[in-house]
Amino acid sequence: MERVVRRPAKLAGVVTPPGDKSISHRSLMLNSMAAGEAHVSGLGRGEDVVSTMRCMEKLGATFEETGSPDSVRIRGLGPALNEPEDILDTGNSGTSMRLLGGLVAGQSFLTVLTGDASLRSRPMGRIVQPLQTMGARISGRNGDTLAPLAISGGDLKGIEYTMPVASAQVKSALLLAGLSASAPTVLHQPALSRDHTERMLRAMGATIEEDGLTLTLHPASLHPVDVTVPSDISSAAFWLVAACCHPDADVTVAGVGINPSRTGILEALEAMGADITLENQREEGGEPVADLHVRSCQLHGTEIGGDLIPRLIDEIPVLAVAACFADSPTIIRNAEELRVKESDRLAATVHVLSRLGARVEEQPDGMVVHGGGRLIGATVSSQGDHRLAMAMAAAGLVSDGEVRVEQAESASVSYPSFWEHLDSLTGDAPL
Ligand code: S3P
Repeated sequence: MERVVRRPAKLAGVVTPPGDKSISHRSLMLNSMAAGEAHVSGLGRGEDVVSTMRCMEKLGATFEETGSPDSVRIRGLGPALNEPEDILDTGNSGTSMRLLGGLVAGQSFLTVLTGDASLRSRPMGRIVQPLQTMGARISGRNGDTLAPLAISGGDLKGIEYTMPVASAQVKSALLLAGLSASAPTVLHQPALSRDHTERMLRAMGATIEEDGLTLTLHPASLHPVDVTVPSDISSAAFWLVAACCHPDADVTVAGVGINPSRTGILEALEAMGADITLENQREEGGEPVADLHVRSCQLHGTEIGGDLIPRLIDEIPVLAVAACFADSPTIIRNAEELRVKESDRLAATVHVLSRLGARVEEQPDGMVVHGGGRLIGATVSSQGDHRLAMAMAAAGLVSDGEVRVEQAESASVSYPSFWEHLDSLTGDAPL
């Protein structure tokens, strides 16, 4: 599918993006491992989360919609799940594959995990190696580093592990495996990454000690917990950037999760001079939430790197769009992880922004965006990467000339209502 995006005279309105993808995955997985019933509301029903749901059903959990698709009752099995009769297909979702890898490593049966072509090319050694050290037997392609992965779990021991990458997916995989290990699991993180797993595990009765960047999880069985999922800040980011760069914008993105391990995008945009106010701040289901009110402004260049990177990792493609509208250069460093996301997001972002007339230089671990305040229309492909599709749409909302986004349907991986929300903000359709 191709979508044509033009700059509207005014960008205005209120949107509520779908439930946070990371919290949605975790609410389904963790409640499936708890004995009893839990209710999740605000569940993000993008394709990635649906992949997790289908996999958990094959492991024995049951889900029932209660009135609307984002409202689901989960019947969990307790710590021992059922051996799946077939392979588990996690589609495009790295979070599903890595977290499930850890989860089934603790189960005394065979599980085979696969995914789509993009996911089968992404590094899995980062979970396989420590899970093997815990005692799981895992085979995969390319010397156990690529999916499909065959995992025979059970009888795990606790390990002390220094994580080479600040990855919430790896951290979560090891925490989930550690739940059923014979002793505590100790993880040394290089930097803070999103902590939704730790928060939810604690709410479900697990003990996790925290000493700086070191986590110690004690083996535990979980009790079910109801979850209210806030809107995904990674989805909100497209509207924040478009509104900052548009000459006449006044947009509110409602009910957004502002967990500090995720708010790097707000800090980066604020450092660039953005006009964003956090309104109606509250706490819902153990996570801080606010309505984000954003208006047009003049952005300035900034430097983004170090510990900030894991806190805005998924927002870098759209942040690069914002940097094109700054009046000075923006330097992005230490972001080499972007090369192993759904696409090589450094190369892909630089390629598409160059097509839109930006002056951007790719670096091994980031990019330099020279700014200048203008993009021009062109045809660009998302390369099947949902965040690229939406970043290019945000660029289209602020470009001179129309931006044609090919493979626009990939937005549904995380944000199925993205194109309707875009139409509502441009005045093309009522919400
Ligand atoms: C996620 C963690 C991040 C992020 C991904 C979702 C999660 O990956 O890019 O979209 O839900 O844990 P890494 O932790 O591997 O960087």
